[in-house]
Amino acid sequence: MQISLKAPSTLSRQKSACLVLPLTVEDLKALPGDATLNAAIERLVKRGDFSGKGAQTLMLPWCDALSAERVLLVGLGEADSVDAKSYDKAATAAFNALKTHKLSDAAVLINSRVLSSEAQISALARLAETGNYQYTASLSKKAEPGLKKLILLAAGNAAAKKALAQGQAIGQGINVARQLGNLPGNYCTPSFLAKEAKALGRKSDKLKVTVLDEKKMRELGMGSLLSVSAGSDEPAKLIVMEYQGGKKSAKPQVLVGKGITFDSGGISIKPGAKMDEMKYDMCGAASVMGAMNAVTALELSINVVGIIAASENLPSGRATKPGDVVTSMSGQTIEVLNTDAEGRLVLCDALTYSERFKPAAVIDIATLTGACVVALGRHASGLYSNDDTFAEKLLAAGERSGDRAWHMPLWDEYQSQLDSNFADIANIGGPEAGSVTAACFLSRFTKNLTWAHLDIAGTAWLSAPKGATGRPVGLLMQYLLDCAD
Ligand code: BES
Ligand code: MN
Ligand code: ZN
Repeated sequence: MQISLKAPSTLSRQKSACLVLPLTVEDLKALPGDATLNAAIERLVKRGDFSGKGAQTLMLPWCDALSAERVLLVGLGEADSVDAKSYDKAATAAFNALKTHKLSDAAVLINSRVLSSEAQISALARLAETGNYQYTASLSKKAEPGLKKLILLAAGNAAAKKALAQGQAIGQGINVARQLGNLPGNYCTPSFLAKEAKALGRKSDKLKVTVLDEKKMRELGMGSLLSVSAGSDEPAKLIVMEYQGGKKSAKPQVLVGKGITFDSGGISIKPGAKMDEMKYDMCGAASVMGAMNAVTALELSINVVGIIAASENLPSGRATKPGDVVTSMSGQTIEVLNTDAEGRLVLCDALTYSERFKPAAVIDIATLTGACVVALGRHASGLYSNDDTFAEKLLAAGERSGDRAWHMPLWDEYQSQLDSNFADIANIGGPEAGSVTAACFLSRFTKNLTWAHLDIAGTAWLSAPKGATGRPVGLLMQYLLDCAD
């Protein structure tokens, strides 16, 4: 989509299929338009058709003496109650209204009485992109044409341009993550993810993409990761994306994504209900891809490494069995008591592998446990870390981006739930605190790292309407932008 900035002049002279006016309740007493436009709005307010309450929309199909073909009034609520969240809601409602009227271009007023104009520009650019997303990859019907051209009525200074670029790149990154999460397991295989990463690498000379195959992983001693792909005919892939936007010597931020392109549970097979949704067990990987897309598009001046541990988890005669003991790349042996706890088995080897990049910090992102959905629902990702200062940064990035996480405990008291009689560690910790013990498992492999883990089992997917959310690309990008500042 083409999104541009244009210094606002007389609103009635602005040509567009639709002039979008986000207005607070107070704005209705001192309208920003000229006489004709203001008179029309005043009549609608008097009649009670528009009150300016949060996320209310009213499409005026025409308005006399206006160069725009239509006007869309959007309520922002009371001026001092407007925050990033309520602004997002109103902007989303506005883009939905444009979609309902099948409009391909619009001009939006940046309201000088709420938030900062950069915050508005970034939110509008992001939501315009995510609002345009449609899933059609495995449908015979073609995509409906969406918004093609958006003008934001604000001065095009450096800060505004930066906000626009960031908002748009984040929106596109979120869409990348949604698309990968939505693709069926027979489309989005580990090899498909590797191909997508390679294609991204070709778009930027700052991004080097390497794909490790199973032979290479065996040489590296990744017996834990390979125990997950053992039952599948699709080969596992370890996808490594090295973005260098900073000095060569600068330590990178490392993102590690769980990329189980279908999780049947393996021999510890899952019940049939909703098993189809386990195609989204690669949403951690999808968020890494989304973030790497945005980082390369913005050419951030930092170093970032994205690592994706991609595999299927299927039962077969060659599949790993409950009770099997495997040896991880770290040398620690693992008793696989439940083959459905496979995410941690692929992640532990990917985390050990990440040490070679001498990271400033490592974040793994994973649809790791159903227990996290029980604990936090769909509103917050579970955040675990071995470093409280680092955790605070991520929590703040979540708040600022509206893509929130909640700090969960990683206390030593939980560790003994992972004791095994036949290996250094068991891969499950019993029925209590399942999300915590999964994080405890990962913590055994990150002792040499500043590390955080995001359990996104609840936040990456919505069951109604069914689909991937693109979270936590917003949180990750806010954190990376903070690192780049
Ligand atoms: N991919 C699942 C976790 C999951 C469940 C994600 C529901 C999204 C929605 C993971 O691999 C898994 O199966 N975890 C088990 C762990 C258990 C065997 C200790 C779980 O949560 O039941
Ligand atoms: Mn599983
Ligand atoms: Zn899984």
